[in-house]
Amino acid sequence: MEVITSSEPQAQRQQLSKPSTPSALFLPNDLKEQLKAEEADVTSGSDDDDDLANASQTASQTASPTITDFSSSSTSSSSDNTECDNASSSSPTSSYPTSTPSSPVSIASKPSSPSPAKPAYPLPPPSNPLREILPIDLKTPDRLIPRDSRLIRLTGTHPFNVEPPLSTLFEHGFLTPQNLHYVRNHGAVPPSAVSGYSAGGGAATEVGGMTEEMLNWSFTIEGLVERPFTMTVRELIGEWENVTYPVTLVCAGNRRKEQNMVRKSKGFSWGAAGLSTALWTGVSLSDLLAKAKPLTKRGAKYVCFEGADELPNGVYGTSVKLQWAMDAHKGILVAHKMNGEELHPDHGRPVRIVVPGQIGGRSVKWLKRIVVTEKPSENWYHIFDNRVLPTTVSPEESGEKTPDMERTWRDERYAIYDLNVNSAVCEPGHGEVVSLRQEVYKVRGYAYAGGGRRVTRLEVTLDQGKSWRLANIDYPEDQYREAQDGEELFGGKLDVSWRESCFCWCFWDLEIPLSELKDAKDVCIRAMDESLALQPKEMYWSVLGMMNNPWYRVVIHHEGDTLRFEHPTQPALMPGGWMERVKKEGGNLANGFWGEKIPGAEETVVEKEPVKEISIVDDKVTRLITLDELREHEGEEEPWFVVNGQVYDGTPFLEGHPGGAASITGAAVQDVSEEFLAIHSENAKGMMPTYHIGTLTPSALAALKSSSVSDPSLNDPNRPIFLHPKTWNSAILSRKETVSPDTKIFHFTLSHPSQSIGLPVGQHLMMRLPDPSKPSESIIRAYTPISDGTSELGILRVLIKIYYASPAEDIKGGQMTQALDALPLGKTVDFKGPVGKFVYLGQGRCAINGRERKVKRFVMLCAGSGVTPIYQVLRAVAEDEKDGTECLVLDGNRVERDILLRRELDELVEKARPRGRCRVKCTLSRPDDQWQGLRGRLDRVMLEREVGRPDENLRGETMMLLCGPEGMQSMVQEVLKEMGWKDKDVLVF
Ligand code: MTE
Repeated sequence: MEVITSSEPQAQRQQLSKPSTPSALFLPNDLKEQLKAEEADVTSGSDDDDDLANASQTASQTASPTITDFSSSSTSSSSDNTECDNASSSSPTSSYPTSTPSSPVSIASKPSSPSPAKPAYPLPPPSNPLREILPIDLKTPDRLIPRDSRLIRLTGTHPFNVEPPLSTLFEHGFLTPQNLHYVRNHGAVPPSAVSGYSAGGGAATEVGGMTEEMLNWSFTIEGLVERPFTMTVRELIGEWENVTYPVTLVCAGNRRKEQNMVRKSKGFSWGAAGLSTALWTGVSLSDLLAKAKPLTKRGAKYVCFEGADELPNGVYGTSVKLQWAMDAHKGILVAHKMNGEELHPDHGRPVRIVVPGQIGGRSVKWLKRIVVTEKPSENWYHIFDNRVLPTTVSPEESGEKTPDMERTWRDERYAIYDLNVNSAVCEPGHGEVVSLRQEVYKVRGYAYAGGGRRVTRLEVTLDQGKSWRLANIDYPEDQYREAQDGEELFGGKLDVSWRESCFCWCFWDLEIPLSELKDAKDVCIRAMDESLALQPKEMYWSVLGMMNNPWYRVVIHHEGDTLRFEHPTQPALMPGGWMERVKKEGGNLANGFWGEKIPGAEETVVEKEPVKEISIVDDKVTRLITLDELREHEGEEEPWFVVNGQVYDGTPFLEGHPGGAASITGAAVQDVSEEFLAIHSENAKGMMPTYHIGTLTPSALAALKSSSVSDPSLNDPNRPIFLHPKTWNSAILSRKETVSPDTKIFHFTLSHPSQSIGLPVGQHLMMRLPDPSKPSESIIRAYTPISDGTSELGILRVLIKIYYASPAEDIKGGQMTQALDALPLGKTVDFKGPVGKFVYLGQGRCAINGRERKVKRFVMLCAGSGVTPIYQVLRAVAEDEKDGTECLVLDGNRVERDILLRRELDELVEKARPRGRCRVKCTLSRPDDQWQGLRGRLDRVMLEREVGRPDENLRGETMMLLCGPEGMQSMVQEVLKEMGWKDKDVLVF
């Protein structure tokens, strides 16, 4: 491979490093004035400016990263080169004139301008200076962000998810001003990205508008790379070759309201303006990766991106294939400017990823980490967002926590990357009225395709697809290809002329005589791209409602001597559109004919989808069971229990129950209908017919219910032990101790001050609360308290992370944790237990499902609040001077403040120090620069390094204890298995 360094003309290099005077020819007057003023500023030059200029000059003298052609298959096919570590020493053969060495661009200076002649390509309109904070935002976490009031809010006030009115977007033409660009924020804008933002926005050619803080914003390039590094925005702008080109970002939810009209999906209702186009300036991701040198021979295949926004399910993150990211043709940018201005906080200030041709969801804002990995991103938003699941998956099913559903979500085949071909009519607009006296009407709109593919035709039908006419297509993006080689815009090389790819929307139009429009019922359009992908007539409904792209249909109403046009929908909850009208009239929108009467066909009545009831009985079972028969099965041998009057034999499930045998023996001879139905998934319920053995006689059922508290000693408030495995007992909520913004320790007062909880080390208890939304029902969950279950008296303390709801995001939050958080002090909560299959008996002795085992070493892997049972075990070891069991705790969290019980864990390590066998290591997936501990997730690399493979000679002496979110647990289990650890050595709490 050849490094192209010599082909760059000297003059061009100078031009890159030297600011040139902006051309006044093509700038509006007010902007010319502003530029004049800025020029004066530059000449007078502040000390800071000088420092920056010096810094960039120094940078220009140091070796610049080189750019190589990873896309050239002829050169990269040789095995060594695929490792990419030859990036700076081998040479690509380049067929395009982009691969110049990176050249310094002064960030203190004014940008160099396009060539003095009026450019052939569109320049952005200056954005409307946003000086005002809208009152609607004042009570939200985004209270410092100025915004354009014309944007339509799709998820209420907050978070900010907006599209401009379709007509306004279209009127602005090819480039959308920042203030009108659609926004998709999963949560609040990170405060660090708003800090120092001055309302008013910069002029289109302003470069120096960034604050020191933003210039110092850093992000990392790490993971499976030979040379991980951290870089600042200042370095990005000053030390790397910057490029500028237009990219249309499209939210995968564009046009989702149409899907929601047919059947409610899990997403909110975008209209057809969930897309916008801007000129983006930044550095090609392929350049940064070339410097970091991905270790492809060690399995590097993906590039994960993470933002700084903290959301209910972690930071926002996703991944793309490394192969795309290394390919300069794909045009993935690390961008810091939009239409020549610093990024607005809503659009990722100060730096973001821009992935052309792919759904907007991959273009991570507020960039903090770029991580090269072996597997696609494990980020919640990568797995549970931006996917088109098969149409058969219903919203209810998609929420099930079953292994099947988990697999479906994680199936990379359903992840969406390239946009699909799509188009919309913009003129006539919704509700537009056109006089029939007019001769022709020019119908106009937009179209786009994905993956850099060009839209090659746009067809219009006035007879519902029987015949088609071809519209004209205009690709303003092509005008940038005419820019002179090396021409600069906004401090970046206008890097388009060599590209064949189409990263932007195009416009289409077709003149139609009014005489023809008047006889038509509707106008439908469809686009085709260069791979002949064609917009379908039928919608492909899916649970997240993404990538909706059926023909765009505008209905025509003939009213007197006018025609009135009706679009399919209006965004958000705005009324209007033929879909809503047809639905109200009882039409079936999914009848393949837009809900209209199908000519010649019998009208079908739309049947409501029945609510699926999972049967927990085996219809073939007819045996009647008396109370005496039931009572014979109270022991641990053959426990029977009752749900909804039906009797089940729990014996076959004693081994496999995730809650351990105790959760079944504890239910023996009990009517456990309430907790069974509250806790178990639809999947678990589906297994019940297998264990169904009979029906309790009515008298037995009545007797069981009335004798549920048959042991009078249980009613004795002076009993020494609080918990009982079969009966609920109440404790009073006496204190809520806040330990972090979303985590509290809930203190409960037991029946008397000398009562012990009665919870062996490693076991859990069940907690029951009335459901605030349905007071007749209860919510039941298992928790491990942090109190010592035997020695702490009179009090029970439970550390709980509260999962708060975000209605706008369709995130319901944790039912139990929110109910508990809302419970006033002094109220009672019910407990029952202990449950769990594991007990630590002390000094290396454990009981698993009642069977004893001796271990010499515990490796305890946990994340988040999964630390609680681990803490119990570590405490038991550390506090017993005679216990020589070696303990290693690996605790994974995102950021330092997420680490729970940190001080307590450190104290235990200190206590055990004389024996020196307990260690706690915390690892952060998003550490800051000061963090001294481990970095990264509990992934294979980490486990290989920190835990190692099992020693053949010490088989069975080490036991892994695992507790954390489901995704983490299954990932760690899988890795441990691959490393040679046996299932019996891994215990999942
Ligand atoms: N990046 C972060 N950090 N957080 C987010 O919520 N939203 C994504 C993407 N990047 C998001 C993000 C989605 S779904 C889209 S469509 C685009 O940003 C929207 O970019 P925009 O708001 O600048 O238009």
